[in-house]
Amino acid sequence: MKTLSIGMFDSGVGGLTVLKEVRALLPQEHIIYFGDTARVPYGNRSPQTITKYALESALFLLTKGIKLLVIACNVSSAFALPILRKRFPIPVIGVIEPGAKEAVRCTKRKRVGVIGTKGTIQSQAYERSIKGLDPHIAVISQSCPLFVPIVEEGLEHDDVAYLMAEKYLTKMRHSRIDTLVMGCTHYPVLENVISHAIGKDVQVIHSGRETAKEVKETLKKRNLLNNSGKGGCEYFVTDAPETFKDIGSRLLGEPLKHIKSLRNMDIKDFLLSS
Ligand code: DGL
Repeated sequence: MKTLSIGMFDSGVGGLTVLKEVRALLPQEHIIYFGDTARVPYGNRSPQTITKYALESALFLLTKGIKLLVIACNVSSAFALPILRKRFPIPVIGVIEPGAKEAVRCTKRKRVGVIGTKGTIQSQAYERSIKGLDPHIAVISQSCPLFVPIVEEGLEHDDVAYLMAEKYLTKMRHSRIDTLVMGCTHYPVLENVISHAIGKDVQVIHSGRETAKEVKETLKKRNLLNNSGKGGCEYFVTDAPETFKDIGSRLLGEPLKHIKSLRNMDIKDFLLSS
């Protein structure tokens, strides 16, 4: 069991910011990453569609033999975590609870900001999670839909990134928050830009980093840590691998290898044939 892989899925390339943190903390683990690049982005889709995609992605990873599943996508975690936990026999970790937990730990003024895609913000999943831990915390939320394309286009150092951050975060800057959760996989790439716009005295939380700690804790508790593995990653995508490779290598800061494309095969066909 210990030598089995960790499975992770996301709508596309963004979950690699979570993978990067898991790898840094657990270098001996083998990770199988599934990016649903043919259907990205998920951020504006309905809860039903996102749940259906999450079930398919999780089932695909289960056929690979995994010991733990990470939903490395905020909007999928927002809508599909309960059903995946109910349906699957292995531990399932989403990115929202760990990010929320850290925000609750950090805030002194009991005022937390959350930014994410429209779907994540509309779901109020962070708000529920934060208030579930401390009902006295005020949560101020803001969707920042253009941050995802800005990152995917490699514009994180461009003026457009600073302009959009200013536009999205000005109101929040005046709301007396002392902690801000980056509730989208892509946002850590913009951490400096976000920090610049919200003010240096606001603590910025990287949900993916907190998720990695939770993954380690869970594996440890269940005696599933792989202490003797060489570590490594394998990637599956549902569209052509080139774009995933280009953007992904940028997000990870190293060239991506071992990418397999399922583009000629629907995930459903794959599941039926396996
Ligand atoms: N991975 C998604 C998330 O964290 C962002 C990209 C998308 O909209 O699919 O919510």
